[in-house]
Amino acid sequence: MNLLEIMQNRRSVRTYTGEKIPKEKLDQILQAGLLSPSGRNRKPWEFIVVQERETLEKLSHCRVGAAKMLENAGCAIVVFANPEKTDVWVEDSSIVMSNMHLMADALGLGSCWIQGRLREAENGESTEDYCRQLLNVRGSMFWKQFFP
Ligand SMILES: Cc1cc2nc3c(=O)[nH]c(=O)nc-3n(C[C@H](O)[C@H](O)[C@H](O)COP(=O)(O)O)c2cc1C
Repeated sequence: MNLLEIMQNRRSVRTYTGEKIPKEKLDQILQAGLLSPSGRNRKPWEFIVVQERETLEKLSHCRVGAAKMLENAGCAIVVFANPEKTDVWVEDSSIVMSNMHLMADALGLGSCWIQGRLREAENGESTEDYCRQLLNVRGSMFWKQFFP
């Protein structure tokens, strides 16, 4: 399939098998994210790959009504960005998310964007604070994406 065909067939997938993602495919998805363009080439992003079942289950509570599918995901890639590196971190991180989503699709893996920034966790905390605490992150947290 060429790129346009991949884009035509891509869909957000929210039902997962829970199978572990083969390392080779995971590496390609991460590479697709890391190769993304960024304003002034600042690359303000950091990724956390979550594969532990218990942590994935806890992550599934990071949003009210929008992240439940995570309990069955094989993997989550949490995308963080540092606003001190650039004022276009939102744009930069969105490109990263989009590229990883397309790469996953091209590899036959379902994935879905879960919005973290400006959203609330089930326990009433901001999604950002919830994930920051769960994953022991000190910088700023913005988006998440998940794979079966
Ligand atoms: C910025 C953004 C935030 C999104 N947040 C969520 C989310 O929190 N949970 C979710 O299940 N889907 C989320 N999605 C997926 C959209 O709902 C989905 O892309 C849209 O409905 C179009 O469907 P498609 O991706 O299958 O074409 C998000 C997508 C984007 C681009």
